[in-house]
Amino acid sequence: QTDIPAVKSVVTEFPVGAAITGAEITTEHGELLARHFNSVTPGNALKWDATEPTENTFTYTQADPLIAFAKAHDMKVRGHTLVWHNQTPAWVFQDASGAAMTATAENKALLLARLENHIRNVAAHYGDTIGTWDVVNEVIDESQSDGLRRSNWYNITGLDYLRTAFKVAREVVPSAKLCINDYNTNVAAKRDALYNLVVKLKGEGVPIDCVGHQMHVNVSWPSISDTEAMLKKFEGVGVEQQVTEMDVSIYTSSGESFPTPPADRLLSQAYMYRDMFALFRKYKADLTSVTLWGLADDNTWLDTYPVARKDAPLLFDTRLQAKSAYWGVVDPSKIG
Ligand code: G3I
Repeated sequence: QTDIPAVKSVVTEFPVGAAITGAEITTEHGELLARHFNSVTPGNALKWDATEPTENTFTYTQADPLIAFAKAHDMKVRGHTLVWHNQTPAWVFQDASGAAMTATAENKALLLARLENHIRNVAAHYGDTIGTWDVVNEVIDESQSDGLRRSNWYNITGLDYLRTAFKVAREVVPSAKLCINDYNTNVAAKRDALYNLVVKLKGEGVPIDCVGHQMHVNVSWPSISDTEAMLKKFEGVGVEQQVTEMDVSIYTSSGESFPTPPADRLLSQAYMYRDMFALFRKYKADLTSVTLWGLADDNTWLDTYPVARKDAPLLFDTRLQAKSAYWGVVDPSKIG
């Protein structure tokens, strides 16, 4: 389909991106990506298990081709992610004897040294080509009284892993925007916990430039007003905001499963994309990019999460044809 407008030619308020988790750039998906988007996020290729599978052995074979593709097509790159509790090899949290780390001063020093070494290598390898980094991912747990996720990172270092990660990233790539990224930030308790953490750390001088809202949503959740409250909350904190992983599931509960996407769900999805993008464009002064977590419905993490079932959360269908969702973003008068 070369007769339809490129998403990036219509949505010009901020870069629009897609995450790539497979071999898309080597297929016709690559053409679709470059035609419609001006930003790309490697969905898995920059995570710790991909870049430093064994200690101090760095491999960039997964990410380098993607970054080269982005460069060749004049696309921005969001680096995802330097620090997470998932997709991190077991050795990271093992002590010198190979046992699981406990919270001792020695282990804390070792873990922070590994963190620093990781960031120094990965961020330096890409330098200026990665304009934004999700320095840390999903550190909030609003069910804890202090709002902080009890990950190995937290359990062994407290908040110091956050302080170290941002400071080292700033030192290595001073030009990059440094983000703290999380999901469900439209939920008041989560949003507030993230806000409190950002305000505290920024107050200490930790160089956080940006809050990333993942926006894994569905056809009937969340409301636009809750999403607007999320964007409003972070205005005036001195951070940019980015939508980092948006997709709109056709499912509204984990019990549902459709062999093919029902027409009414695809319509609701188009309206959700329409309304969300209208909101994002209204907040263009705060939002500095919007990225979808995938390119087309033939490759989406939602096919396996929360249960195995076919989902259809993106702008293009499994045959790479524009869906109503695409028109929701590009020209709502053509939805349907
Ligand atoms: O590469 C292997 C392949 O060799 C193997 O045959 C196959 C069998 O399971 O697994 C493949 O690895 C999978 C990988 O995706 C690549 O497709 C992993 O099992 C699978 O766990 C991994 O899932 C990724 C997930 O993060 C892991 O936590 C998804 O692709 C990725 O989209 C997802 O992304 C996260 C963001 O980083 C953070 N926010 C939520 C978002 C969605 O879960």
